[in-house]
Amino acid sequence: MEIISKILFLFFFLLPILAASSENQVYIVYLGGHKGDKEVHEIEQFHHSYLASVKETEQEARASMLYSYKHSINGFAATLTPDQASKLSELEEVISVFRSHPMKHEMHTTRSWEFVGLEEGIKTTQMHSHTAGMTQGLLSKAKYGHNVIVGVLDSGFWPESKSYSDEGMGPIPKSWKGICQTGDAFTSSHCNRKVIGGRYYVKGYESVYGPLNRTLDYLSPRDKDGHGTHTSSTVGGRAVPDAAFMGDLAEGTASGGAPLVHLAIYKVCWAIPGQDKVDGNTCFEADMLAAMDDAINDGVHVLSISIGTSQPTGYAQDGIAIGALHAVNKGIVVSCSAGNSGPHPGTVANTAPWIITVGASSVDRKFNAPVVLGNGFILEGQTTTTYRLDNVTYPLVYAGDITVPNVTQELAGQCLPNSLSSEKANGKIVFCIRGNGTRVGKGLEVLRAGGIGYILGNAKGQGEEIVADPHVLPATALGEYGAMQILKYIKSTRYPAAKIYPANTQVGTSPAPFMASFTSRGPSVLDPTILKPDITAPGLNILAAWSEADAPTKLAADDRRVQWNIYSGTSMSCPHVSAAAALLKAIHPTWSSAAIRSALITTAGLKNNNESLITDSMGNQADAFQYGAGHFRPTKAADPGLVYDASYTDYLTYLCSLGMPGFDTSFKCPQKLPKTNDLNQPSLAIPKLNGTMTVTRTVTNVAKGKSYYFASVKPPMGYKVNISPNILVFKHKGQKKTFSITVEKERDVISNTQAANGQEYQFGWLTWYDGIHTVRSPMAVSSV
Ligand SMILES: *[C@@H]1O[C@H](CO)[C@@H](O)[C@H](O)[C@H]1NC(C)=O
Ligand SMILES: *[C@@H]1O[C@H](CO)[C@@H](O)[C@H](O)[C@H]1NC(C)=O
Ligand SMILES: *[C@@H]1O[C@H](CO)[C@@H](O)[C@H](O)[C@H]1NC(C)=O
Ligand SMILES: *[C@@H]1O[C@H](CO)[C@@H](O)[C@H](O)[C@H]1NC(C)=O
Ligand SMILES: *[C@@H]1O[C@H](CO)[C@@H](O)[C@H](O)[C@H]1NC(C)=O
Ligand SMILES: *[C@@H]1O[C@H](CO)[C@@H](O)[C@H](O)[C@H]1NC(C)=O
Repeated sequence: MEIISKILFLFFFLLPILAASSENQVYIVYLGGHKGDKEVHEIEQFHHSYLASVKETEQEARASMLYSYKHSINGFAATLTPDQASKLSELEEVISVFRSHPMKHEMHTTRSWEFVGLEEGIKTTQMHSHTAGMTQGLLSKAKYGHNVIVGVLDSGFWPESKSYSDEGMGPIPKSWKGICQTGDAFTSSHCNRKVIGGRYYVKGYESVYGPLNRTLDYLSPRDKDGHGTHTSSTVGGRAVPDAAFMGDLAEGTASGGAPLVHLAIYKVCWAIPGQDKVDGNTCFEADMLAAMDDAINDGVHVLSISIGTSQPTGYAQDGIAIGALHAVNKGIVVSCSAGNSGPHPGTVANTAPWIITVGASSVDRKFNAPVVLGNGFILEGQTTTTYRLDNVTYPLVYAGDITVPNVTQELAGQCLPNSLSSEKANGKIVFCIRGNGTRVGKGLEVLRAGGIGYILGNAKGQGEEIVADPHVLPATALGEYGAMQILKYIKSTRYPAAKIYPANTQVGTSPAPFMASFTSRGPSVLDPTILKPDITAPGLNILAAWSEADAPTKLAADDRRVQWNIYSGTSMSCPHVSAAAALLKAIHPTWSSAAIRSALITTAGLKNNNESLITDSMGNQADAFQYGAGHFRPTKAADPGLVYDASYTDYLTYLCSLGMPGFDTSFKCPQKLPKTNDLNQPSLAIPKLNGTMTVTRTVTNVAKGKSYYFASVKPPMGYKVNISPNILVFKHKGQKKTFSITVEKERDVISNTQAANGQEYQFGWLTWYDGIHTVRSPMAVSSV
């Protein structure tokens, strides 16, 4: 922890010095919220006056403005020199001035709904509808999300996908104020009663990369990438029977979690010129803030944002955090991906306490494609490729043994571009190690070198998490155990050989869920007194709709086109929680964003389908820095009993406590500031506890009638936890009760090695129980 914060400190304080040139960069100048004292047309003029004060000429000032954020967010994006940025930041009413950072999709590159249902002990009728409905009870109670509008910030959508059909859908809600913005291969007829809005934001991108290359991407809400189609159809795609990846994998009904919500698409992510398609997509904060400002004004109820950065900045310099705060002020629930930078600690992104931060875990489905070694030994593997080898044995080689001479020792075996000797790979199955380079890119290299098949093995530490990919040749992927076995075998014999079986889909596998090794981990580097991530949801090998302008591998060399694709990442788990939030919004339209977040968190589950505690991909017990409160359980979240509510004002007070006053100029920080961990979170984190700490919490009864709640605690090892009072009596719905949590250190339980490995935290729980509702909050405490 200590080391991480020091590095960040240096990084951010050195940056302006290194960049002290006269070069123009896009900056965001953030002025807080609008007071409602200006007409919309006056605001741009008002923002312009700031620019005019630092620019040489009126003309220059006009030309430098990218966006004027007019609706909820008060601020603007403009090209500035570091000098001009620093001048503006000195003005009293300016809260922050920050560079428009590029962000990335949190993709690693659906049985998931039924799986969520199974967790509740209710099975859907179609056992083979791998992506079909959440528990029918919840869905019908929420009318499948009817009348709720979910905004998705991403790479656009593919309108021809059946997921976006509006057949039988209700009218567009009267409250809707958004538009359908036309552009490349996109007319107003591409919006309908399912997708009721489509907009795009490209100025921040173009100020860095120049005019969009319209061969690389569509200048419109149309998705050339696939990611936005995948995430938006996961939230709110219609139920489409007989969906499958390339014919027969993961066959069944594909459906979004809330199939009758209306979707509003905000395209903010664009193809990076000159890059291979994999990960070649970027999203700029200036564009995202413009999209969020519009989305709030358009009237969305939920915002789903599978975008983030692995280098978090303070809340005042974080476009997603700022936009989300304004959204939450309007009652909009904001759900974001936690990031794919695991398994290292302190990597979690989107950590503001008003955001739902979602980690990724597996579902109970596998795409089995075993390897049979020449000695008859069978290794479990997975793939979604539809290329097949004949049922015969082929020679097998380890990539590290057949590299061209200029490949360094540490990268041998990685199958990076142009690293394999064609002479030696020709006609063979090549075994490569996961690590540097993309998984599908390694397959492409094997194909280029003339290999006939490809086996990918997990590196040390990646455990048994297998991301099943649609490789460009016959292939399969093995976990860490299988990778070790295959290497041992290759070394042990003169003529190693293997066959790869084609993939078949197996459901009901256990244990599930387990945490993906890539899912980003807590603690939050920005503020370790807020426990993050919040929750986990399916993010490994998820089937959803895809753009027909992109290959399933996203490789330029892959000319396959598909309607559905299987993808992995916290990008895929975030829209699962967004869908759950939309269903809760449908059932409880008056609940605040914090109440919905609390309901999802306090009802999350800790067990896998083997009735054991959820593990990581290595089989070790996972913890709250991986899954927050646990795996989401939407049906239980609809009736949480109690919620830990919080208002916009509470968040502003929290920001005061954090030393960031003035997020809203109409708000004065209280004289006596509470501790940051007094913010009414449905979780608790105490870093560096010295002796004893007491925090307060307030719960609101959201169930009907009288109830008695009893507290129980599983204290973190080495600590004593006292709840006072430990019985709460509620007489009516809406009643609030306050209690305190005192945490006291009893003894040292952390070894020096654990401390050095960033494992200084111990985890526990606080639970309120009334005989019906279990309201559980996770707790993370450290004393070093
Ligand atoms: C646009 O992208 C295409 C495809 O990569 C490329 O062939 C073309 O040269 C690019 N055009 C410009 C103007 O850069
Ligand atoms: C592959 O061949 C073996 C015999 O060599 C046979 O036992 C097996 O059933 C075959 N598998 C398939 C899928 O055809
Ligand atoms: C190795 O050298 C060859 C020939 O000079 C080159 O084409 C290739 O890109 C190089 N490979 C790597 C991995 O550097
Ligand atoms: C990637 O390569 C670098 C050296 O080029 C190495 O230090 C690093 O460990 C590699 N990462 C992985 C995940 O293999
Ligand atoms: C899960 O439970 C089943 C049945 O009890 C058992 O056979 C299996 O070994 C368990 N799997 C794991 C990984 O614990
Ligand atoms: C811990 O608390 C004690 C007494 O309250 C104080 O004297 C001491 O300086 C504190 N230690 C740290 C590291 O803050």
